[in-house]
Amino acid sequence: MVQARLEELNLPDILTFNDGNRVENKDMWPRRRAEIIQLLGSQVYGFSPPPPPDVYWNIESRDDMAFANKAVHSVVSLKFETPKGEFSFPVHLIIPKTTVPPPLFLNIAFRQNIPDIYLPVEEIIDQGFAIASFCYQDIVPDCDDGFVSGLADMYGAKNRKPDEWGKISMWAWAAQRVMDYLQKLDDIDKKRIAVVGHSRLGKTALWCAAQDQRFFMGISNNSGCSGAAISRGKKGERIKDIVNRFGYWFCENYSQYIDNEASMPFDQHFLIAAIAPRFVYVSSAAEDEWADPESEFLGCAAAYDAYKLFGLNGLIPGEKVPGTGDILHQGRIGYHLRTGSHYLSRYDWNQFIQYFRRWM
Ligand code: GCU
Repeated sequence: MVQARLEELNLPDILTFNDGNRVENKDMWPRRRAEIIQLLGSQVYGFSPPPPPDVYWNIESRDDMAFANKAVHSVVSLKFETPKGEFSFPVHLIIPKTTVPPPLFLNIAFRQNIPDIYLPVEEIIDQGFAIASFCYQDIVPDCDDGFVSGLADMYGAKNRKPDEWGKISMWAWAAQRVMDYLQKLDDIDKKRIAVVGHSRLGKTALWCAAQDQRFFMGISNNSGCSGAAISRGKKGERIKDIVNRFGYWFCENYSQYIDNEASMPFDQHFLIAAIAPRFVYVSSAAEDEWADPESEFLGCAAAYDAYKLFGLNGLIPGEKVPGTGDILHQGRIGYHLRTGSHYLSRYDWNQFIQYFRRWM
């Protein structure tokens, strides 16, 4: 049934180069992956500027006995040079007192709160994971302001070209700057960093992991339209809806696909495949019809061939589209469909942790 559904959708092939040649082996993948990033950059999210030469930071506060003396919680302000001078934003870093440097979740957050309804800090650190978290609104406000504030202003984005960054790209780029910083620390496992986000920030997390191979894993929760969900045949939110309400999340070129999905030389499985052969996790919620769990699942299933190139399994689906309560952790793409509505729950976090542990 899954196979039949995918065939019906007639998706562009991840393993066919733009010139029509086939990707025959894993050595050819980096070149195809670069094409995929190019496509998604120019047509969906918009290209970002190159990284700044370096990142710097100040430690604003440090609690050595945080969370019942189980962790060190610091707030650092991360700084770097931009065309209009220095830009800075706060990052929370919570490192459990483990015997070995812990793996880390880089959380792109809706709020600065530590903990937060979407970030059960104690449960995460108690299971041996560190957290770096920043609030997306500290990068650039989530509104259609003509790109005149925050990071957008620093890079003069109000004059952006049709293929230049929208705000999802800006948030993803900021997460990469946090990654730059994390690479300079000794008390975390720098090779095991997962970037995680919910909903609009789940779209952001996937785009971030797709572009930046330093990430061990990309995790998107309920990311839906223009995230993990295949756009062709999608229920709930469509490209038309998202561009009309949130056009500033994307580059201008994206609007040409409104009611015109069949003409896209890509679909969202390209985004997931661009993370291959690294790990991806996609989670859906049964009542989240706007995001459309089935299309999110199909995004994962359709990325399978990129992993197969490496002799690896991506998502291992059964014959049928998963039902509520199903958990698929056997391949390099993890997936679950939980009960309830659009939300980043403790259940989701616990699944991410189990999956992460399984593959460490
Ligand atoms: C809106 C939007 C979605 C998005 C969601 C969110 O519902 O249409 O695409 O994922 O907000 O970020 O919560």
